[in-house]
Amino acid sequence: MTNVAIIGCGAIYQNHANAIEKIEGVKLYAVCDIDEKAVEQAAKLYHCKSYTNYLDLIADPLVDAIHICTPHYLHNEMAIAAMHAGKDVLTEKPICIHPEDAKKMYETALETGTRLGVCFQNRYNETSQKAKQLLESGELGNIIGAKSMFTWQRDESYYNQADWRGTWSQEGGGVLINQSIHTLDLIQWLMGDIKSISANVATRKLYDIIEVEDTADAYIVFKNGAECIFFASNCHTSTSRVEVEIVTDKGLMHISDNELYWQPNGGARVSLLQADSATDAKACWGLGHETLIRDFYVKRTANEQFPIDGQEGAKAINMIDAIYRSSSIKRTIIL
Ligand SMILES: NC(=O)c1ccc[n+]([C@@H]2O[C@H](COP(=O)([O-])OP(=O)(O)OC[C@H]3O[C@@H](n4cnc5c(N)ncnc54)[C@H](O)[C@@H]3O)[C@@H](O)[C@H]2O)c1
Repeated sequence: MTNVAIIGCGAIYQNHANAIEKIEGVKLYAVCDIDEKAVEQAAKLYHCKSYTNYLDLIADPLVDAIHICTPHYLHNEMAIAAMHAGKDVLTEKPICIHPEDAKKMYETALETGTRLGVCFQNRYNETSQKAKQLLESGELGNIIGAKSMFTWQRDESYYNQADWRGTWSQEGGGVLINQSIHTLDLIQWLMGDIKSISANVATRKLYDIIEVEDTADAYIVFKNGAECIFFASNCHTSTSRVEVEIVTDKGLMHISDNELYWQPNGGARVSLLQADSATDAKACWGLGHETLIRDFYVKRTANEQFPIDGQEGAKAINMIDAIYRSSSIKRTIIL
């Protein structure tokens, strides 16, 4: 039996706890939070041990793997300490705030022989998997370009739920690092390695409430010559579906949440996939957590590489860092 622990019992932890409970051979052994009420509630709900100090948790020899569901600024210190204690780590996105810390994290995984995974569950959406497979097969032609639109609503009440949100030191950014990071990750995963980024960030609506950006746009050029225009904003009046459109020399592929379309040049749109989609209050997080977490443990048992390891998880943070630098110096950043 693999004993798993979760650090951080806030908004996202139940997506992890519920998934862990469904996986054979894996057990939720402990939860940890500095908030005593939150951790007691979680321990009662999942019938497991509780800790209020994460250092005590990682010192527990019965813990095999740790999921990090805490504010962004804590991911690197918690992951590194856990890996030094011989624990495998699955951290929520972002891997951490700064590219140099991400490097220390994946180097620690190599040094200690532990596993480090990052939770980019949207890669596990059926539409993302199908799009990736079709693009890689070459069936849809050569990729020329992409367009990505991310428009969510994150208002004052969202930022008031937790002190770390909206701050440079603890969230590390706004719409880029917290919400649209999944879309940035998908773009680089589907399109290929990035050559350069030219971008702008702004705080258009919530400047009295947050320090960080609520809006960003970027022009991205890939090493294969393809281009992408990207827009992200938390200023919308509702949380709408994320749209990614990929143009090839044969037509246009459109991913929107659980729907995947293909429109060949000069032809009519055809539906390639209409998958199940989440309908609850947290639907914007998608249905991918369980599939990703299951894959993490399947790969662990089989001693195979988990696809979103530290290096892979760091790519989105490198993109975000380039976006901020480009916006600040008003120049194209070569990656
Ligand atoms: N993958 C997704 O779609 C998705 C969705 C939501 C959140 N997230 C990520 O999950 C992480 C947590 O986000 P959230 O919205 O659940 O935050 P939250 O503020 O709701 O919960 C964070 C929890 O961590 C606890 N915590 C803080 N410091 C701690 C410490 N030193 N030791 C132990 N516990 C500590 C807090 O008390 C709180 O209960 C973030 O990285 C966020 O980006 C991912």
